[in-house]
Amino acid sequence: MTFDNRVFVSPMCQYSAVDGFPSDWHLVHLGTRAIGTGAVIAEATAIRPDGRITPGCTGIWKDEHIAPWARIAAYIKSQGAVAGIQLAHAGRKASTDVPWRGGGALTEGSWQTVAPSPLPFNATDPTPHELSTDDIAALLDAYVAATRRAKAAGFELIEIHAAHGYLLNSFLSPLTNHRTDRYADGRIALFEVIAAVRSEWSGPLFLRVSASDWVEGGWTINDTVALARELPAHGIHLLDCSSGGNSPLQQIPLGPGYQVAFAERVRRETGLPTGAVGMISSPEQADTIIRTGQADAVFLARELLRNPLWALHAANALRATPRTPNQYLRAF
Ligand SMILES: Cc1cc2nc3c(=O)[nH]c(=O)nc-3n(C[C@H](O)[C@H](O)[C@H](O)COP(=O)(O)O)c2cc1C
Repeated sequence: MTFDNRVFVSPMCQYSAVDGFPSDWHLVHLGTRAIGTGAVIAEATAIRPDGRITPGCTGIWKDEHIAPWARIAAYIKSQGAVAGIQLAHAGRKASTDVPWRGGGALTEGSWQTVAPSPLPFNATDPTPHELSTDDIAALLDAYVAATRRAKAAGFELIEIHAAHGYLLNSFLSPLTNHRTDRYADGRIALFEVIAAVRSEWSGPLFLRVSASDWVEGGWTINDTVALARELPAHGIHLLDCSSGGNSPLQQIPLGPGYQVAFAERVRRETGLPTGAVGMISSPEQADTIIRTGQADAVFLARELLRNPLWALHAANALRATPRTPNQYLRAF
């Protein structure tokens, strides 16, 4: 696959779906961000209803979801960007209210959350159901079906969400996986999910992880590097290196490009292509990350909420040729 450039739209939940259906909001939001960027990755999209973070999260758990996603994927492609989707299950962090209503555990319309071990995120949250091996087998089937639908919708790239404390992250981290069966090594669950997706998908496949829990005794960048060495054999093409979200005890040293070192280390030590994400906002900063080989692509999130046409401005600032739509040529 060839990308027009290495500016990728990082997945961002919009909490604006009804029954998992993406709406005109998603079309306009994602469609606008396809202007000038290399790829657009649609938000964490639940493979099952119980995998939604909030009731407003998008889904791909039934065939009726295919048509609205197909309209969005086609539009993204029409603008010259690669259309991607992030497949997700929120695990123990599901069943919460939308952020602008506080984001806490739902009191009305809540559902049973699931996790590798029965440990709530906050002590006051409802305890998640500990997944049995049969439950995990059912989840794998849901990943297979979701992938088939993503393909039918015309997406060209899939990212598996294993970051931010959601289901697959909680399998990986020793803080949240206290199992004694074969899933005690949480990578087994991750590899089975990758294989489930791969059974329906031969195209580009990215994985997003939290490269560090930022908690003493948690998952570390060393664990991520070791995992990354295994990933090509499972068919992962790029590791999108985020961090945190798995524990309320995390201590994150926030600052510009604060996660770039993770992408850089994985790339240098394993040769696996990486994506850098987190507080990347200036064209020069993004360009340096690519030119100095710290990552193969930059994923931008909030900067693209503030400035949807960032890629065009960045190209101008760096004296490159932006992929400007004809309609906007007089402005760029
Ligand atoms: C509104 C919003 C929604 C987000 N939703 C997702 C998501 O669906 N999946 C995901 O992996 N990360 C999600 N993130 C995290 C971003 O993709 C990104 O990793 C993070 O915001 C750091 O990048 P930034 O500093 O460029 O915003 C979200 C972030 C924001 C601000």
